[in-house]
Amino acid sequence: MFLQNSIHCSVKFQNMFQLQNGVKVLISIFFFLSMRLETSAQKETLEQHNRRWDTPAWTDTVKNPFENNAAVAADSGKIIYMKLCMVCHGTSGKGDGIAAAGLSVKPADHTSNNVQLQPDGSLYYELTNGHAPMPPYKSVLSDKQRWQLICFIRTLKPKPVVKKNKR
Ligand code: HEC
Repeated sequence: MFLQNSIHCSVKFQNMFQLQNGVKVLISIFFFLSMRLETSAQKETLEQHNRRWDTPAWTDTVKNPFENNAAVAADSGKIIYMKLCMVCHGTSGKGDGIAAAGLSVKPADHTSNNVQLQPDGSLYYELTNGHAPMPPYKSVLSDKQRWQLICFIRTLKPKPVVKKNKR
């Protein structure tokens, strides 16, 4: 009787063990799938990015008026950036400002390819017209100030890593 009971018990335990393993497998599949979903959501191509912003094609050819004086303009742009943009975009422009966490959309990383590979005119258009929760700066900043900001954003482009050849 005792033996029968204990066998019965161990069978039960075995079943429970199998069940637990099954649940574990299901949970890992779920995590795996959700991680894949997350990475595919993060990897937005430049084309998808531009389509989302609906930036008109004519902005590609708009000339930056500070083209030949970009370094000086960027210095002025930096001062404005650290006053107005830093809260969301962060001091290094990576989109990690103090107010970023409370926003429905993560502020753009100004050091990223999706930003740096866009023409000046396209960034200027985005800054001017905004894209919620990014505010429009058309009436807040002058034309000159907005171009100075674009010149500053260009300085945030990551420097290429120079590999030293060992001899
Ligand atoms: C309230 C927070 C907030 C402030 C302040 C802010 N931004 Fe943004 N910005 C955003 C968000 C959020 C996005 C991304 C919106 C999206 O992807 O739909 C963005 C996107 C941008 C983009 C478009 C980049 C791209 O991905 O194409 C530019 C350019 C930009 N911001 C410049 C600025 C500048 C310059 C300032 C300061 C004058 C500024 N922003 C201030 C939140 C902010």
